[in-house]
Amino acid sequence: MVCLRGFQRRTPLNPKDAEAEAAKASLAQALAELRAGHLVVIPTETVYGLAADAENSAAVNKIFALKGRPATRPLIVHVPSLDHLDRWVSQIPAYAYDLAQAFWPGPLSLVLRRSTRVPDAVTGGQDSVALRVPAHALTLDLLRAFNGGVAAPSANRYGRISPTKPAHVQAQFGKQTPYIVDGGPCRGGIESTIVSCLGTQPLILRPGMITAAQVAATTGLAVAEQHHATSQLRTAGQDITHYAPQTKTILFQRERNAPWPEMKDLQVGFLGFAPPPEKVHLALQLPSEPTLAAQRLYAALHKLDAAALDLIVLEAAPEGSQWDGIRDRLLRASGRGRP
Ligand code: TXA
Ligand code: MG
Repeated sequence: MVCLRGFQRRTPLNPKDAEAEAAKASLAQALAELRAGHLVVIPTETVYGLAADAENSAAVNKIFALKGRPATRPLIVHVPSLDHLDRWVSQIPAYAYDLAQAFWPGPLSLVLRRSTRVPDAVTGGQDSVALRVPAHALTLDLLRAFNGGVAAPSANRYGRISPTKPAHVQAQFGKQTPYIVDGGPCRGGIESTIVSCLGTQPLILRPGMITAAQVAATTGLAVAEQHHATSQLRTAGQDITHYAPQTKTILFQRERNAPWPEMKDLQVGFLGFAPPPEKVHLALQLPSEPTLAAQRLYAALHKLDAAALDLIVLEAAPEGSQWDGIRDRLLRASGRGRP
């Protein structure tokens, strides 16, 4: 038997110090991986990201390969602070600056005219780039130490449910999973609001927990919302099915008295804001407060998708702009996209 006693500390670290030491070691490893051109899974306040050095095209290409994502779908570059913005963009309209100041670090991505520093691999050849400062202490430490930008989509296979816990990433990528910086469960739960700042007024490309009303109040400008189906931009959610379970998934609108689907002999799962109108095999309920519902949404979808069901029924989100991001994800998860 190997005796480890000689290697043990005389005074064990208190839990706080032990946690700090583990975080330090994890960040050192993540930094080394990024510098070597490898992928790293990073925690953010929204969802976990699959990160690579944004200035290393070969590293960025590994993201597309692992996700199975078309190379034409541009990536968000994550930077440590607002001060880094002008390294990556060539023009910053005043209203974009106001948004960055108001919401960074936070769940907001800004699309701006790119600088020459940004490789085509990141933007899919477009002349714009999406940027954000994520609000997660570990990842901010990593970005500061890296002193650059990391391109990171959500750490899931293309079109599938985004991960809000390390275990979700592991379940999708298995042995191919890159090094994970474990930052615990994500507090935000759905992806950032994406705002295009290429025009004279802000344009919401993907709804999220920062609402159009907040963008309007911060900028003092009218805010447009993109109609995905007619968009020429290659952006979030042009694929009608996205953020989707592998199990067949349908949408249910309780308030419209939609008929409960015929599902005799099927193993059915339900996710909604009140109990399902009929008995199902597995029923999960989301809180009626939107920030809490967002926090739990993807974990609930992962759970339903892993439960070997025949059908998942998702209840449409309530009315109101606070629910825009969640409504969008529920529609897309059920293959309905936005109207
Ligand atoms: O919260 C988030 O935004 C997460 C975390 C990891 O930061 N990231 C994320 O990345 O959701 P991803 O790649 O799953 O979604 C980013 C979306 C894509 O649909 C992409 O098309 C759009 O942003 N996008 C990126 N760059 C763009 C650009 N230059 N113009 C328009 N859309 C862009
Ligand atoms: Mg994604």
